Amino acid sequence: MGDGAVQPPDSISYLTQREAAEIDEILMGPLGFSVDQLMELAGLSVATSIAEVYRATEYNRVLAICGPGNNGGDGLVAARHLYHFGYKPVVCYPKRTPKPLYSGLVTQLESLSVPFLSVEDLPLDLSKDFDILVDAMFGFSFQGTPRPPFDDLIQRVVSLGEYDQTHKKSAVIISVDIPSGWHVEEGDIGGEGIKPDMLVSLTAPKLCARRFCGPHHFLGGRFVPPSIIEKYKLRLPPYPSTSMCVQIGKPPKVDISALRENYISPELFEEQVDADPIDQFCKWFDDAVAGGLREPNAMALSTAGKDGKPSSRMVLLKGVDKDGFVWYTNYESRKAHELSENPNASLLFYWEGLNRQVRIEGSVQKVSDEESEQYFHSRPRGSQLGAIVSKQSTVVLGRHVLHQQYKELEAKFSDGSLIPKPKHWGGYRLKPELFEFWQGQQSRLHDRLLYSPTEINGKQMWKIERLAP
Ligand SMILES: Cc1cc2nc3c(=O)[nH]c(=O)nc-3n(C[C@H](O)[C@H](O)[C@H](O)COP(=O)(O)O)c2cc1C
Repeated sequence: MGDGAVQPPDSISYLTQREAAEIDEILMGPLGFSVDQLMELAGLSVATSIAEVYRATEYNRVLAICGPGNNGGDGLVAARHLYHFGYKPVVCYPKRTPKPLYSGLVTQLESLSVPFLSVEDLPLDLSKDFDILVDAMFGFSFQGTPRPPFDDLIQRVVSLGEYDQTHKKSAVIISVDIPSGWHVEEGDIGGEGIKPDMLVSLTAPKLCARRFCGPHHFLGGRFVPPSIIEKYKLRLPPYPSTSMCVQIGKPPKVDISALRENYISPELFEEQVDADPIDQFCKWFDDAVAGGLREPNAMALSTAGKDGKPSSRMVLLKGVDKDGFVWYTNYESRKAHELSENPNASLLFYWEGLNRQVRIEGSVQKVSDEESEQYFHSRPRGSQLGAIVSKQSTVVLGRHVLHQQYKELEAKFSDGSLIPKPKHWGGYRLKPELFEFWQGQQSRLHDRLLYSPTEINGKQMWKIERLAP
């Protein structure tokens, strides 16, 4: 999920059916929204929520079951976004709405060659053909009991929600705004409704969502303006960064021992990698940057002093070339003390979105003072002041102490004059002696290529060997 904190359920407002309808009317009346816009944002929120939890590499085949109203439209839009996110959506849309908005959505999906299946064409056991079922049948305006063919479709989804004998869940169920068949305020009154794994509430959760006890509750529809928040005294969680969704409700209880991914990645062959591991590293680093991964230059640095006890922490790579890997830090920190006693260290990069890790081992030296000086002055002034204030790894009596010192320095340098680099701050360079490139593969048959130095005809080269995963 994104980096927003999970909200305790009581800090969030839940809407009655009437309030939800009124809010829609206000949005599409005085506030100038069109139904197309709200549907687009709702569908995008659903697709991004799904992508936060269920990766396309593992849960690829999606069936979106779309009802005749707006909830069905949200499902059609979500299917389109999921297609672009790398999923393989299929749509079941048995009662098509003959309005241009809906026929446009159908045309868009058809132009992407997204298959439409009739109820009769659906396989008997939905879990065989699909990893994800999107329940976009009925939303908050639904009342009464579902009519054919949706009664039967709901039944089929319900029967999937049960665990099979191997305790392996067959397909995950995602409900859009309201689990279909539930009472909008009372929830699953009969106890026989859909029990989704994920509920994506839109605009604000409806009262029935209080009864949702599946592992993933998300909120989407990041368009609620302050006037509505004030009028309905809504308490809604902040969305993280630019995300279209935010996780709400209780954080899911995870069984750490069961957390594993079945990686699907391009294979890594000895013949295809670069002879020079730095070049190979730069290629993978470029892939991590191109893949939009967050802080691709974050790496774990492990050191051990003369007592031999290892310690690890994250640092940011600030330069790499044939001479090695550079980062900056405090020369009086714990890592610095350990490096002064033992220059051997290890770096580890993990690029989660690409199923790749790289480990690099070697010996470490300080970079030249000029190099540190140059980098220091390229940093934002706030970071320069922070480096002066922080006696890294020493005990501080409180946050206020750091703030006070920072404020004093800020005042001192408020005229924009050059902030001198403190002596205790600078760079280190690890000169690599060993590399391992790891690429996750299916069934734990991962690729591991080890580069170690060797001499051929008096020339320093790198030997490449495959290691068992
Ligand atoms: C993603 C990330 C990047 C970091 N980058 C640096 C860095 O470049 N330099 C640094 O001194 N500390 C960095 N830190 C903080 C270190 O992890 C660590 O707390 C600090 O350097 C003190 O470590 P030590 O007491 O083991 O010396 C980073 C932390 C994180 C989570």
